[in-house]
Amino acid sequence: MGNGIAQVFAQNGFSVNLIETKQEFLDRALQTIERSLSRMVKKEKLSEAEMAETLKRINGNIDLNLAVKDVDLVVEAVPENFDLKKRIFQAVDEHAKAHCILASNTSSISITKLAAVTQRPGRVIGMHFFNPVPVMKLVEVVRGLVTDDDVTESVMAISKELGKTPVEVNDSPGFVSNRVLMPMINEAIFAVHEGVATPEAIDDVMKLGMAHPMGPLRLADFIGLDVCLDILNVLYEGFKDPKYRPAPLLVKMVDAGKLGDKTGEGFYTYS
Ligand code: 3HC
Repeated sequence: MGNGIAQVFAQNGFSVNLIETKQEFLDRALQTIERSLSRMVKKEKLSEAEMAETLKRINGNIDLNLAVKDVDLVVEAVPENFDLKKRIFQAVDEHAKAHCILASNTSSISITKLAAVTQRPGRVIGMHFFNPVPVMKLVEVVRGLVTDDDVTESVMAISKELGKTPVEVNDSPGFVSNRVLMPMINEAIFAVHEGVATPEAIDDVMKLGMAHPMGPLRLADFIGLDVCLDILNVLYEGFKDPKYRPAPLLVKMVDAGKLGDKTGEGFYTYS
């Protein structure tokens, strides 16, 4: 999602340091952004000049400590693993200026817990984007227990500058979005497992009967089955409530490396 987030900031006039761990990942990220912008140019939503300006505002970087030195806002979008996020938050906290806001695009990990690993817990907040980031209007702005009011106000205002609609929620496992979305996806997977209907039939029911743009199983593939499993585990462990127990079929598919769109196979196959 980092690509999409960098693209949206740059499109709206912000200078962006896009940070990756390796040059090859950075090259891939920049190519993805170029493809997404070209698509918008083709659809006449963006001019060639705006595309060039947008790309000029994105500086690729593989040195995290250097890249965060002079910025006002960091949006972290690494995989959903608390220890990994903790390491990154501590490094950013050490190298960024004191006023810099540290935001996480986490889907479900506690903002309060992430804030506590830094020396600036009041300046840590959730800035949760949705896929595809250039298209989806929502930013779920997640206040940790000690997030300062002025930080929340700034992030709400910045989200509006990105052309998004921010919605403020309090820190709680899965926040609002994934607390409501993931049980639906999980239930759809249980229904497949129990032979109630095929993935296609389940998705058709939700698309045609409930006007969802994608059915829950197609959406699970799109999000990534590994990401869905990580989020369900956060909900399960966070609430200690069996209603969030990940469907055994989901666990099996992740174990088998069938992660959805990104591996070419999940509930559907992709060429
Ligand atoms: N970059 C730029 N534009 C894009 C894009 C991208 N990556 N992907 C799609 N678009 C644009 C297209 O250009 C098109 O624009 P237009 O309407 O002006 O022509 C529009 O989006 C629709 O795209 P398509 O015509 O190609 O395809 P669809 O009509 O099937 O829409 C979709 C695709 C927008 C993905 C739609 O199926 C959808 O809304 N699906 C649900 C997505 C969703 O629920 N996302 C949230 C996931 S949960 C999450 O991210 C949170 C995390 O914590 C798990």
